[in-house]
Amino acid sequence: MIIKPKVRGFVCVTAHPAGCAAHVGEWISHVKSKGPIAGGPRKVLVIGASTGYGLASRVTAAFGSGAATFGIFYERPSDEGRPATPGWYNSIGFTHAARAAGLYAKNLNGDAFSNDIKAQALDAISKDLGQVDLVVYSLASPRRANPKTGVVHKSVLKPVGSPYTNKTVDTDKGVVSLVTIDPASEQEISDTVAVMGGEDWELWMNALAEARLLAPGAQSVAYSYIGPEVTWAIYKNGTIGLAKNDLERAARNIDSLLRLNGGGKAFISVNKALVTQASSAIPVVPLYISILYKIMKAQGTHEGCIEQMQRLFATQMYAPGGPAFDEVGRVRVDDLEMKPDVQAAVARIWPEVTTENLSALTDIAGYRSEFLKLFGFGLEGIDYGADIEPHIPMA
Ligand code: NAI
Repeated sequence: MIIKPKVRGFVCVTAHPAGCAAHVGEWISHVKSKGPIAGGPRKVLVIGASTGYGLASRVTAAFGSGAATFGIFYERPSDEGRPATPGWYNSIGFTHAARAAGLYAKNLNGDAFSNDIKAQALDAISKDLGQVDLVVYSLASPRRANPKTGVVHKSVLKPVGSPYTNKTVDTDKGVVSLVTIDPASEQEISDTVAVMGGEDWELWMNALAEARLLAPGAQSVAYSYIGPEVTWAIYKNGTIGLAKNDLERAARNIDSLLRLNGGGKAFISVNKALVTQASSAIPVVPLYISILYKIMKAQGTHEGCIEQMQRLFATQMYAPGGPAFDEVGRVRVDDLEMKPDVQAAVARIWPEVTTENLSALTDIAGYRSEFLKLFGFGLEGIDYGADIEPHIPMA
């Protein structure tokens, strides 16, 4: 079939298998171009491995330091005449490339929050890898069924305490408007913490420790975001921010666990705001990202997921002397985004943006092309007019 993008709001309901593989190929080339990461990870479990920061972590571990990788994700497989979600094709592309390079790469598609997927993963790691020395926890999910209670929690992206009004952009239509979001209820807050907080990361790490699958000195990292004041009501101080506080709580507990396991560590890396499937669903944030990209591209400091993760591994996690932590123990690869001159420029542009000047004042074009790339569209060298088989089994 000929596969074209079909954008519906903040998702694209189609994905291109060859385009997704080419996108992963670009990421692999970037990591290779940076050279080997001395002392990097050898055996890595990535939870949330198929898109965004998790996939970039996996590519960095494999092609930066020759690591064996076990990837867990939750993607809709392809069917006869129906494309899969992009993470399915990304993972196939990654796995073929890793194996062609002589690297171990295996995948598990299913709900990482469930006991069943944890048991399957533990079993496979024990048989294939013996132990892992790095666990990357990079899930972004709208819901979680708690394995102990069976209760399904749904996360919301809302302010806490009072309603919040700010500018937002419909990235598809290019319309800038004001949006008012009512504050979350207590139930919505606790549900969001249950989904995007740290409980599940702790369950994973405790299960791995109990099964003796963590190599001495093993590390674990999860990702967070802080951003500028203009997004705080919806992010840092909103429901997702409270969930991220809980992720930091979990990092401290896991850090204690790993320290006793041969001097390992666990921490949060605060990453840059980037176009991913998860971030495109957050009100206000896509407009901020469009302005940020404009400024950082002009400065020559723009980075995507792969540049961020390559830098995290090479200059922080596996740097001689280890990571440089901020005052509360987080690693910051949002440093370039948060530079005062960058944020001053964002603050100058923000009040000026309207539907009419969106293209001139922001990098909405760059946002859109990055968004389409997430689904395998707009990659160089791909013939999008050609017939392609959408139904591809997992590698
Ligand atoms: P993403 O949407 O690109 O990736 C999410 C991953 O989680 C995918 O591999 C997906 O298959 C997997 N997943 C979702 N539900 C699952 C489940 N139940 N079981 C197994 N796998 C499941 O998201 P993105 O943006 O890469 O986010 C990853 C982390 O990075 C999140 O913690 C997010 O808050 C954080 N982050 C994102 C930033 C951004 O601007 N995108 C900035 C800073 C941090």
